[in-house]
Formats: sequence, C-alpha cells, structure tokens
Amino acid sequence: MVVFGGTGDLAMRKLLPALYYLHRDGHLHPDTRILALARAQHSLESYRKLVKRHVGQHVPRRDFDQSVWELFAERLDYLSLDVSQRVAFPRLTKVLKPGTGRVRVFYLATLPSLFAPTVQHLAAVGLTDEHARVVLEKPLGESLQTATRINEQIGQVFDESRVFRIDHYLGKEAVQNLLALRFGNALFEPLWRNAHIDHVQISVLESVGVENRGDYYDRAGAMRDMVQNHLLQLLCLVAMEAPVHFEPEAVRNEKLKILEALRPITGMDVQDRTVRGQYAAGEHAGERLPAYYFEKSVDHDSNTETFVALQAEIDNWRWAGVPFYLRTGKCMAQRKSEIVIQFKPVPHKLFPHHGDSPENNRLIISLQPDEGIRLSLMAKSPGRGMGLQQVELDLNFDEAFTRRRWDAYERLLLDVIEGDATLFMRRDEIGAAWRWVDPIIDGWRDCYRSPKRYPAGSWGPEAADSLLERRGHRWLDQR
Ligand code: BG6
Repeated sequence: MVVFGGTGDLAMRKLLPALYYLHRDGHLHPDTRILALARAQHSLESYRKLVKRHVGQHVPRRDFDQSVWELFAERLDYLSLDVSQRVAFPRLTKVLKPGTGRVRVFYLATLPSLFAPTVQHLAAVGLTDEHARVVLEKPLGESLQTATRINEQIGQVFDESRVFRIDHYLGKEAVQNLLALRFGNALFEPLWRNAHIDHVQISVLESVGVENRGDYYDRAGAMRDMVQNHLLQLLCLVAMEAPVHFEPEAVRNEKLKILEALRPITGMDVQDRTVRGQYAAGEHAGERLPAYYFEKSVDHDSNTETFVALQAEIDNWRWAGVPFYLRTGKCMAQRKSEIVIQFKPVPHKLFPHHGDSPENNRLIISLQPDEGIRLSLMAKSPGRGMGLQQVELDLNFDEAFTRRRWDAYERLLLDVIEGDATLFMRRDEIGAAWRWVDPIIDGWRDCYRSPKRYPAGSWGPEAADSLLERRGHRWLDQR
C-alpha cells in the first residue's frame, strides 16, 4: 500500500487509522507493507511517531493497544519524495522493486492536479504492471472537461479494472444497508416507485464549517465537494433498479442509468429548482461562528456556496413525477444525514387524524450521526373513537448489532486490496455526474447573483424552504 500524501489530513485522519484496524483484526496479509510518501522530511522514527499520535487521536482508547501498535508500526515505511518531480521516482524503485509480482495499491491522497503526473512517473519507472492498482480520491476534476482529461491520462497507464475512484459514502455501513433494505427484503420493492412514493429527500448536513480546508473548498464549493459525488451516489442507490448480481459492472451499470436519466437543470430552471447559500456569522451550541468569508484562506469577496438545495427529477418509468430533493450544507443547526422516503396518502380517509404531522407513511434511513431505519405508521390513538396518530417503528443499528461498525475506509481499502470495485465509481459514472452538475454551476455563474446568506448554526437559507413549499412539501426534519 503506497500512500501519496502520506502526511496529509486524509492519511492521518482516515487511511492510517483504517489500516491500523485492518491490521489489528487480522485482515492484512502478514507481508503487507505500507509506504507513505510526502515532501516533508521525516526519519522513519519521526514518521511512525507522527502516525502514532494521529492514530491515538482517531481510534478510541479501548481499541488502541501498544503491542498491536508496535507490530503495525513495523509495517510502516516513509520516503520523502516530491511527486511532481519525475527525477524523484527512480528512488522509489529502490524500495518497490519492479517486476516482483506483488499486488501494489497506489493511493493518491493528493491534489487532483498531481494524479496524472504521478501515474505517468510511476509508469516511467516500471511500477504499473498488471498487479498495480490506483486509488483516486475525490474531487476528480472540477468539471466534465477536467475530469475527462484526468481519466484519459490515467487510462493511458491503468486499464479501467485497475482504477478505483473512491467515494467514501459508498463505504459507510448505513449506506450499504440501504441496498440491503431494498434488495434483501421483499417488502418495500413493490412500493418503491412513483405509484406509491410522493417524493424523496436526501440531506447531508454538517454542523462544522470548512475547518482548515478553506483553500480547497473556496475553489470547489458544496456542489463539487458534496453533490457531484456523495449526494448523487446516494440518489443512485435509492433509485436504481435491482442489479442482477452484486458485482462491479452489474451495480455500476444500474447506477449509470439513473445518472443518465436525471433531467438536466438548465436556463431558468437553475433559478427555479436550485438554491445556493453561504453561511454568515452565527452561533452553534453557544459558540460564536465566523462568516464563511472570514475563514482562513477564503477570499473575502467569495461567492462560493457552502449550502445547496435542489430538486432533481429522474425521467424513467419508475420515477417520473417524483421529486428528489437534495440538500447539503456546512455550519448547519445539526449534523444529520438522512434519506426520507415520503409515501403517498391513503386514497380514501376513513378516520380522523390527531396531531400536526402529515399522515402519510414515511421511511427514514438515518446515516449519521445515528444509523438506523424508522418507519412512521398511522395507529389508533388510545381511548374512545377512531382518531389516528403517527407512531414510529424504530430500528437503531447500534442496538441491533453489538459488533463494532467498520469505518468506510476500512471496508474500501480492503476492497481495493482484494480487487473488488463494486463500491467504487466507474469512469462513465463520473462523466454523467459532471454532465448534470456543470450546467447548474454555469447557470449560477451567469446569473451574477450572490449565494443567499444563512446564519451559521441554522437550517440554511429560507429559499430552501420555499423551494419545497412551492411544490406543497416541506423538509421533514426541521423546525
Ligand atoms: C468529504 C468532503 O468528501 O466529505 C468534506 O470533502 C465533508 O467537505 C466530508 O466534510 C463529509 O464526510 P462525512 O463522512 O464526515 O460525512
């Protein structure tokens, strides 16, 4: 496992803790070695110390064991290397000897602008044989054009079966549970269509701001950072047809069909069906939060969106006429990711209704911070008469399963090592997602309007509420 960007945030927060767990739980082959590469100068000892500090911070104390750590540390190596410099790569062949037949995973946790040069330099020194795989972190490009160029350059060295484009949302247990719910139960599938479903809401809300990533984020914005990948992938899993097998091509073919069926949002529709926002100063849990444009490395005149809400439509037989509302934002009132499937009302009402929540059945799949599934049903209110009220069947995965739940990166890293690409994005999926997202970003740019401000710590701009109200709906988790 060769990690480019080996001292970066992702490596320290996610990849190395995930590898620690895989090692601890016996999922790594005894010969597995981890070579971290970065520009910083480190001795092996100082690098191991750095990793220990971070793993110690990100792995709960009960899971951290000194003797396990010592064996894990023996797998770790470090090489200081400037990956933008081709002349640096021959040094790599002293550590990774070409032609040994070992499986090599090159994990590019670097800026996307370094993807193509890194891969070309690896090829030049003979390290990209048929046993080599490459993992690309998002964001892959910033538009269809740039993503296509990166994919073509990577494709000149690695054939598609050896390219693993990661979207860590697909590695989350709760997200895979969505597939289990849909395709492991006969109960929901007959209802999973426009005849019975009124609309779908997919929200990924974060309470944190851009933290120390202002430099990257100000160029990306929520649309490129979250919607193009995580939210569209969730939408695909909700909407796709059942694949014939749980295998890479079968699953990815079905997801691609959904991306291709998304009705384009262009021209006046951009104003009508999308809302973009940016957080202003506000408060969360009693703490004052600065406005986005005062965050470190963010341009004071920035028009970058930190919030997006939009209405997507899928033009196929199953979903015609069912709005899919997507919403994501930073500095929101709560950290909360969930998918709400709102069913249609009963065709004819026999009973009066108590309470103010809508009487339709609703299935809520919670992804974060709690993982679970809730189904709201109408039940008879106790006492005289036949008044109904809403009650919930509530399945909490933490209570249902006592075993530790894997982090997304553990699952995905093991899949790469084993060569299973089912939970990774194929090249054409990336293209289709950008093809849908690009005109929205262009529409925002062309209209010269600033994003709507919302106070940090709130539920986002009011325009996001009116987006749904105009269609007779409301966000089902707030106020
Ligand atoms: C990343 C985004 O892909 O996902 C971040 O770049 C975001 O901006 C993160 O905070 C959210 O991931 P999670 O797993 O914390 O929901």
